[in-house]
Amino acid sequence: MRIFLSLSLLAVVFCHCMAQPLSDGMIRVSTDATDLVIAVGPHGRLYQAYLGPKLLHDEELQHFAKNRGWEVYSTSGNEDYFEPALGITHADGNMTTYLYYVDSSQEKVKGGTHTRVTMRDDKYPLTVVLNYVAYPKENVIRTWTEISHKEKKPLTMAQYASAMLYFSRQAYWLTEFSSDWAKEARMSSQQLQFGKKVIDTKLGSRAAMHTHPFFEIGLGAPVSEHSGEVLMGTLGWTGNFRFTFEVDNLGNLRVIPGINPYASVYELKAGETFTTPEFIFTISSNGAGEGSRNLHDWARLYSLKEGSGDRMTLLNNWENTAFDFDQQKLSELMKEARSLGVDMFLLDDGWFGNKYPRSNDRAGLGDWTATRDKLPGGIPALVSAAEEAGVKFGIWIEPEMVNPKSELFEQHPDWVIMQPNRETYYYRNQLVLDLSNPKVQDYVFGVVDRILTENPGVAYFKWDCNSPIINIYSPYAGEKQSQLYVNHVRGLYNVLSRVREKYPDVPMMLCSGGGARCDYEALKYFTEFWCSDNTDPVERLYIQWGFSQFFPAKAMAAHVTGWNKRTSIKFRTDVAAMCRLGFDIGLDKLSDDELEYCRQAVATWNRLKPAVMDGDQYRLVSPYESNHAAVEYVDKSGSTAVVYAYDIFPRYQEKLLPVRLLGLDPESRYLVREISLMPGTKSRLAADNKVFSGDYLMKVGLDILTGNHTSSRIIELTRQ
Ligand code: GLA
Repeated sequence: MRIFLSLSLLAVVFCHCMAQPLSDGMIRVSTDATDLVIAVGPHGRLYQAYLGPKLLHDEELQHFAKNRGWEVYSTSGNEDYFEPALGITHADGNMTTYLYYVDSSQEKVKGGTHTRVTMRDDKYPLTVVLNYVAYPKENVIRTWTEISHKEKKPLTMAQYASAMLYFSRQAYWLTEFSSDWAKEARMSSQQLQFGKKVIDTKLGSRAAMHTHPFFEIGLGAPVSEHSGEVLMGTLGWTGNFRFTFEVDNLGNLRVIPGINPYASVYELKAGETFTTPEFIFTISSNGAGEGSRNLHDWARLYSLKEGSGDRMTLLNNWENTAFDFDQQKLSELMKEARSLGVDMFLLDDGWFGNKYPRSNDRAGLGDWTATRDKLPGGIPALVSAAEEAGVKFGIWIEPEMVNPKSELFEQHPDWVIMQPNRETYYYRNQLVLDLSNPKVQDYVFGVVDRILTENPGVAYFKWDCNSPIINIYSPYAGEKQSQLYVNHVRGLYNVLSRVREKYPDVPMMLCSGGGARCDYEALKYFTEFWCSDNTDPVERLYIQWGFSQFFPAKAMAAHVTGWNKRTSIKFRTDVAAMCRLGFDIGLDKLSDDELEYCRQAVATWNRLKPAVMDGDQYRLVSPYESNHAAVEYVDKSGSTAVVYAYDIFPRYQEKLLPVRLLGLDPESRYLVREISLMPGTKSRLAADNKVFSGDYLMKVGLDILTGNHTSSRIIELTRQ
């Protein structure tokens, strides 16, 4: 029976192929540097035949076997004995699924080519469509899956991964990015052995608090910066995610990224299409540095909100005043912002709530009207004061959350995710609003909409999310609780897309108690994210190093604060200047020289934007592997490069090597200048004000590291 069916299916396969861009039963997803080849097997099953460096000769695809290999999107109950991508119980209780090729198509989309591969079960009216968008120049592939059916009753899905990728190498090393409040993006590596390693989160809303939705795999050798083959992947999902890495009996690795199906069995109705989140990946043959540059370019061009746009420097008040401010104090800070030369003043938490004023984190969340005692003129007076001071005005909100001590909670207890009959557990004294409920979505959208309708002068939002989901239960979902984790995130996207549609030009910072939200789906709606509340510059060197693996400097917000006052203002500012620069510090507490340094730093940062915000980043010296750090940015025209060099805690008489630069033209000559010196100090660099060839700078390098603790310098190279 099976043979008969397969043969008849084969006829279907090739009949469909006629109209498709299939060469010899092969589907090819290509960038300029990578090929993913999917083979249609003789029985119509689909296999991943190849994933690796781009093949130069098309005709050689025929060498790949079509009748064996790895199921391109493995399903439960088939003859693959390892972790599947899809686990379905059909309406009749059958738990097996076999997918066969139906057709494929390719079309040009912005920046790349979209390949769609449709598969169908031979026994059930179940359709699975694999999607791949390949960006040739950036060498990035975006992939996701659509699942739909026409069975008589709903079917249930216990697993629904975004994609599945396989690798066959001698060994595999995983780099993961663990996290916690003030400890974001901590990189650690391990060799993958037989069996599974899972990275996942079950936190729901502040989902990436303990681990971030991205990873690197060293293929054949541990991940290194400038050489070796590395897969870098990230999931665009602002909720529970799971990456499964499984090494099988033959030493092959499968990578399965997707929504974490934990407590999330999904009931799929007939006619409904379940679209998974996107998995975005690049494979570099020249180490993680090149992979990061691929992702940075791709993000700026095709993903990040306002990826090609400008960014504003700012003065924030959270670290400076916390909840303790009033109109007068804020007006003064706005003037300080102006004298510092930044573009904007950003008012943080603590401006709202009247029945329950937000004078600490125990009350007020949910009541988004300005506190009359503190701010009698409300937001309009703040906008006017900013206008008068000559800066833009931005404001903090946390619209997905509620304090039980709030009017919102009193009026709508049924809008909140909490157990009706159990003890309530609070995280930062707050609860999460139930975004699966359309009324709650309207309310959350209304928070932004009302502020902007009443105050078109508001120029920026910092959108925070401080609590995970605890005691999950939705009064709205009734007996259908198991889709809440998924529907909650969809509700969030519904709100964010409405905000983006109505206010496309308003920049927003994504914040989640620091950097617990850092994924490319959210960043379609946000211009940048807050990497961490930890602004100690030493810690930030590691945190920013970690996030820079996946995100361009333009997407990462960094502020100069009072954390680790033992370090100089220059060191703190130089670290923040590698990202979107801001300040969150009492300027009145700085000496004249320090203030002057900050002013100059703002002007210099503005001048160097083409390199730092929009250029190519080269991570030169890793803080993980030395007592120093150095990062270089080269603008796209190649005319300016800037190197940020840091000494963290060098040992006594430690051997210091020159730092070799990257990304320069060997034949061009560059004027080397140390910039951003403290007022009254001079450069001690031997190379200062001298001209070198790119060849020399890349082979010999510059002596820019020292034996001093927490010291820094910025070197500008100008092509002559
Ligand atoms: C979170 C953010 C901080 C600040 C506070 C305000 O912790 O990460 O930057 O906005 O909330 O309560």
